[in-house]
Amino acid sequence: MFRDDFMWGVASSAYQIEGKDKEDGAGECIWDRFVKEKGRITDGADADVSCDFVHKYKEDISLMKYMGIRHYRFSLNWSRIIPGGTGKVNEKAVKMYRDMILFMKEKGIEPFISLFHWEYPQRLQEQGGWVSHQSPEWFGEYAKVAAKNFSDICENFITIDEPQCFCNFGHVRGTHAPGYQLPLPLSFQMVHNILKAHGRAVQVLRKYADRPVKIGIAPTYSVPVPCTEESADIEAARRAYFGFYEEMDNWAWNLSWYLDPILFGKYPKEGMEKFASYLPRFSKEDMDLISQPIDFIGQGIYNGYAVRADKEGEPEVLERKPGAPKTAVGWSIMPECMYWGSKFLYERYKKPVIITENGMSALDVVSEDGRVHDQNRIHYLDAHISQVQRAYDEGIDVTGYFLWTFLDNFEWERGYSERFGIVYVDFENRKRTVKDSAYWYQNVMNTNGRNLSINRKPRPILFLNPVLKEMVWGGSRLGTDFGYQLPGNEVGECWGISAHPNGDDGVDDNCFIGKTLSELWENERYLFGNLKEDRFPLLVKVIDAKQNLSIQVHPDDGYAKEHEGGSLGKTECWYIIDCEEGAELVVGHNARTKEELENMIHEGKWDAFIRRVPIRKGDFIQIDPGTVHAITSGCMILETQQNSDITYRVYDYGRLKDGKPRELHVEKSIDVIEVPAKPAEDSVKNVKEILENQWVELIACDYYKVYKMNLNGMMLFEQTHPFMNVSVIDGCGIVNGRVIKKGDHFILPDGYGNVELAGEMELIASTV
Ligand code: NOJ
Repeated sequence: MFRDDFMWGVASSAYQIEGKDKEDGAGECIWDRFVKEKGRITDGADADVSCDFVHKYKEDISLMKYMGIRHYRFSLNWSRIIPGGTGKVNEKAVKMYRDMILFMKEKGIEPFISLFHWEYPQRLQEQGGWVSHQSPEWFGEYAKVAAKNFSDICENFITIDEPQCFCNFGHVRGTHAPGYQLPLPLSFQMVHNILKAHGRAVQVLRKYADRPVKIGIAPTYSVPVPCTEESADIEAARRAYFGFYEEMDNWAWNLSWYLDPILFGKYPKEGMEKFASYLPRFSKEDMDLISQPIDFIGQGIYNGYAVRADKEGEPEVLERKPGAPKTAVGWSIMPECMYWGSKFLYERYKKPVIITENGMSALDVVSEDGRVHDQNRIHYLDAHISQVQRAYDEGIDVTGYFLWTFLDNFEWERGYSERFGIVYVDFENRKRTVKDSAYWYQNVMNTNGRNLSINRKPRPILFLNPVLKEMVWGGSRLGTDFGYQLPGNEVGECWGISAHPNGDDGVDDNCFIGKTLSELWENERYLFGNLKEDRFPLLVKVIDAKQNLSIQVHPDDGYAKEHEGGSLGKTECWYIIDCEEGAELVVGHNARTKEELENMIHEGKWDAFIRRVPIRKGDFIQIDPGTVHAITSGCMILETQQNSDITYRVYDYGRLKDGKPRELHVEKSIDVIEVPAKPAEDSVKNVKEILENQWVELIACDYYKVYKMNLNGMMLFEQTHPFMNVSVIDGCGIVNGRVIKKGDHFILPDGYGNVELAGEMELIASTV
């Protein structure tokens, strides 16, 4: 969990929220010009008013306080403070920002100033902008004004926000202000100037600040997420993060070209080779300037993509599955980006990492109750902040998290067409409505993340992938009637709920996907009420007997422990899903004494020995250890049993498997068969009527309780057992939102709570 000194905050930028005031004396910035160009911004929007923060900042900062925000990262608008970019300072702007910061501090909110979040002065743009060799000095002059005017009341500074965005979108692709597609050599010169400007700002801030200040830069980049935790995939993802795999027309979109010079004093070798023909001369003085020591690396992380190592160990990007989750703007949702992004950065640069931005755009709506129920954003934030915690818990030095963003605002070229805020802004009347996500985030900050899912034990329904078993006596009805993909023509058993080593079911959904039931039993025992047994106690099978099964008997726990290497004995029960008219099963025998029993077995007097009992569909039969039994051809059965695979075969009708008779266990059988057998009525229960929509108990013995339900419509119940196995043996329906059908098996874990069933289904459930 996060400790008390972790910095929780929100982030914003000046241009996106401030708006203008005729009297404010601000100069024009490149975005003011850009938004006026036809076709540049969705719906022709501009940011002349936006959230009107210049007039409403006291209300908004108060709102931040009410919502528990402790750190606020915002940018100063360079062209508001120095309208011409250099020269005369606009004292009104200085006063406004000082008032703003003092008000924040009064409210207990710690300011983080970004000097530059893309509000480039138009006047300087006309003199060459970042391409000009003078641009580092221009930025230094502005940094000096910031240091002199704000360092007494603000300790934390970020020089430049997300240089990749304004370099790439603004100067390579041309979709952001100033809308350029620079020739490559010029764009490399520009990035070099920006890095020098960063270095100059660090020097100036340190020199002119009233006290020691903390300084960082805040780049961004999508994070390659290794598709497995194999070292080759991890290394491939790391290579992709710091490497140069973009096409040249997208070149400024990378990470190490910006961070290596700052942290290592040199450009990365791989980039130097790839870009050799476009590069300007980099002098030692330049590199010294760029690599001024900084205190932290900020990083905006929003998304990731899966990567694996190809045969040469090179990163190979994996296609996303159709329908994989995305935000409103279409960015892929992959929460692990937070973990790997922080980890890779910290391991390479060994500096504290601050997540300077993370958040989700959505098409939020105000509901009839007047509130904004942005559950999708809560889900996104929960998953992403949980992954930050994962890195933090592993000792990665992540020191803060700034959610992007507090207020819905002007999202650059996309105008107001999507919303990133945790506070909804009505852009007609500037009314604010606190979204559900803000309340949720308040709780995160107040508890240092105790409410995050990483700190809660998930208890989802465990849907299982059954293991199918071929048997000499098996048929094909598990395919035709139950819809399973059969591995062959003689499939006798479907181990629907099993953690047995001979057939361990995997979970097919949710956070435990891919884990086997026995792994969950070992590692997540809380799902099963922290039961003390050394193995998952039950095994549930569907059996299709095309032919008779052998005549057999099972040992009890004591006998199995001694003779079968510690296995459990086997008590089992059968629910007859289907059988032919006039069908009979073998349950018990006719020998009256042990001697008679041995004689009948050794002499092969099977007709005399075997006791047949008539059965019908819907009957229920308990088979205790020591009871001779056999399932006969034509029966489909749901079997619930102790988690054991021990069977002693007494007689196999002389059948051959692969040309040989199957092994018999005559002596062990004679050891364990109960003589005389108990009356058939003690084992066979004719279940006459099952009342609809309730669990009807079929049996409760020392090893299990088994229930049946005929569902018709809807029913609610509370799962209060240590766990509850459920198998759908007929029909289809829904369990808490998930569509289920005949042949599905699932476990309702301990503490699952309310279960809502709907549909027309027959269900068999079991627990201990
Ligand atoms: C990064 C930028 O810094 C910010 O201005 C923008 O609004 C968010 N990403 C979301 O796109």
